[in-house]
Amino acid sequence: MSSDRSTLEKAARRARRALADGAGEDAAARADSLTVTDNRTGKTYELPISEGTVRALDLRQIKVEDDEFGLMSYDPAYMNTASCRSAITYIDGEAGVLQHRGYPIEQLCEKSSYLEVAYLLIYGALPTRAQLEHWVGEITIHTFVHENVRDFMKGFRYDASPMGMLVASVGALSTFYPDANQINDPEVRQIQIIRLLAKMPTLAAFAFRHNMGQPYVYPDNELSYAGNFLSMMYKMTELKYKPDPRLERALDVLFILHADHEQNASTSAVRSVGSTQVDPYTAIASGVAALYGPLHGGANEAALRMLARIGSVENIPEFLEGVKRGDERLMGFGHRVYKNYDPRARIIREHLDAVFEVRGKSPLLEVATELEKRALDDEYFTSRKLYPNVDFYSGLIYEALGLPVAMFPVMFAIGRTSGWIAQWLEMVQDSEQKIARPRQIYTGARDLDYVPIERR
Ligand code: CMC
Repeated sequence: MSSDRSTLEKAARRARRALADGAGEDAAARADSLTVTDNRTGKTYELPISEGTVRALDLRQIKVEDDEFGLMSYDPAYMNTASCRSAITYIDGEAGVLQHRGYPIEQLCEKSSYLEVAYLLIYGALPTRAQLEHWVGEITIHTFVHENVRDFMKGFRYDASPMGMLVASVGALSTFYPDANQINDPEVRQIQIIRLLAKMPTLAAFAFRHNMGQPYVYPDNELSYAGNFLSMMYKMTELKYKPDPRLERALDVLFILHADHEQNASTSAVRSVGSTQVDPYTAIASGVAALYGPLHGGANEAALRMLARIGSVENIPEFLEGVKRGDERLMGFGHRVYKNYDPRARIIREHLDAVFEVRGKSPLLEVATELEKRALDDEYFTSRKLYPNVDFYSGLIYEALGLPVAMFPVMFAIGRTSGWIAQWLEMVQDSEQKIARPRQIYTGARDLDYVPIERR
């Protein structure tokens, strides 16, 4: 989808061209509209084009009979429908660009921290030093969860999926904070935002420890956001867990990389559920639920399994031949939006070495590096604009951190929480938004007479 900025620029260019053609103001105005002829009636309509879009509701005036509903657009999977105007994240898929509130992801990963990026996404500007200190302090003192949350999580079966536990426990937070449903009160909203960011790593780490059959570890508020998460995940008998700064930094960068990606499936779920004016815990639980699906949060697992199956560099040519024959896909390659190198993949690749330095090198790195090189040398992949995406290397980092594959989408969810919150907040403050309620094309039977059971 084009960004606000690029569509506005294109619209301005078109208008300027029309003026330069000497056609005058009328033509410039006309340049930003779409003329549609309905061949059923021969009538012509003029639909305004704004920011590279026409309003779907403008189609409703197009009808054959006065009393009919009017024309709708049909767009399964929202392939070409903008559901909102948003100033949070800009993606240019052709150029491989990702920016949050205008700042390139490369600069944020190099110079910022996850909590600063969360602030930026949610409030729209980088914080001052005082604002950042206050923000980090507030999040740090809200990391504990109610003891009943812990007890509730303990009730899951010993082998429960950590992602399933996360969906349930994030949703359950709404029962601990019933006033969270006052979503129009900015002060009430603010405390839920803090709680969500603060407690998500705690819930995620509890789910992991549960799955490992290990005691839950309470937060350590003297550590950083990522450092505390590592402590809750890996602390054993030591009195104080000391996170390795290289792992702490790599994890913080992974959280930044996953922070937001505009209107993807889970964010659309959060906006859609949130549009009912439900509390943010429930809305964000729906985002976690959407991320649970293998097409969204699970591709890195598939990429890791693929690398393990290829096993060694000698097997790459045969594997690639199979992909080109259409036997299977090269997982971690290709993207609906990026038709160039996914900038997140490049950044992850850069941080792999630091993680391997601490945890020991994975033999699969050589396979991944060579596989990428050969695919990018191959006309099959280049002609289809298939490049590594964020999932090509993220599984390798998670594996090196000692995480089971079931934890991969949980890690994604921790990072994405800031984006979900930012998008939810933008949505509840957007006067154009209403309860999300798509239309349908009804294809079933009508006006049947009920048939008693003995006659069917
Ligand atoms: N390996 C081999 N061929 C591919 C691949 C791939 N990974 N991806 C696309 N193609 C081919 C596809 O067969 C088609 O070829 P042809 O034109 O000959 O029929 C062409 O490229 C276009 O593919 P498409 O399926 O129309 O593209 P899409 O935009 O619908 O699919 C995708 C995007 C991500 C689903 C797809 O590239 C894919 O399945 N990739 C592997 C899974 C993966 O890595 N998913 C993670 C995506 S990033 C997650 C995130 O951002 O959150």
